[in-house]
Amino acid sequence: MTAFDEELARPDLRGIIVAVSPEGAIGLDGRIPWHHSADLKRFKRLTMGTAIVMGRLTWESIGGKPLPGRRNVVITGRPLDGVEHYASLADALAHLSGPIWFIGGARLYAEALAHANLLDVTYVPEPVPSPRAVRFPAIDERDWEAGPLEPHDDPALKIRRYRRRHAS
Ligand SMILES: NC(=O)c1ccc[n+]([C@@H]2O[C@H](COP(=O)([O-])OP(=O)(O)OC[C@H]3O[C@@H](n4cnc5c(N)ncnc54)[C@H](OP(=O)(O)O)[C@@H]3O)[C@@H](O)[C@H]2O)c1
Repeated sequence: MTAFDEELARPDLRGIIVAVSPEGAIGLDGRIPWHHSADLKRFKRLTMGTAIVMGRLTWESIGGKPLPGRRNVVITGRPLDGVEHYASLADALAHLSGPIWFIGGARLYAEALAHANLLDVTYVPEPVPSPRAVRFPAIDERDWEAGPLEPHDDPALKIRRYRRRHAS
């Protein structure tokens, strides 16, 4: 386990994990418009054993089946079978303890930014020029201190982590 992995195992972790294109796109037509198996492996490694919180459309995009080894939590105003779900992010957070990852999509990230203490961003090289692309919300550097651009297991990718400047 690296020092960073240990930091991620903090019980008070409330992390956002996301992969973005050069334009800041995260999704297109209900899916992620690239495939990087090393990033999926990293996502699995970082989120294993934690609670993962997602929006309803992201839940549908993963096939409506829980990702194994993690407490899957969906935010939706609709009835939903087969998974723990809440009508609001505040309601979900009131029921969760221990390390939490907010895993998308854009609508969920937009609200989760106010609750997160760490952002973990993977940069992929594929352009997504479509006007239909769903984008990651702006990161306000008054709230977030950017770490250095770091190498990824896949040399085509890079990682940057941001830490909250003040306690949330
Ligand atoms: N690149 C990445 O790292 C990454 C990661 C995850 C997802 N994605 C992509 O992102 C796209 C989906 O993003 P999206 O923004 O369209 O959808 P989303 O955030 O996954 O889901 C939106 C739905 O979730 C519920 N929801 C989300 N946040 C809520 C909140 N704060 N309060 C109440 N309800 C909330 C609502 O459900 P109801 O309508 O049921 O009430 C809303 O319609 C897909 O293309 C997916 O593949 C990319």
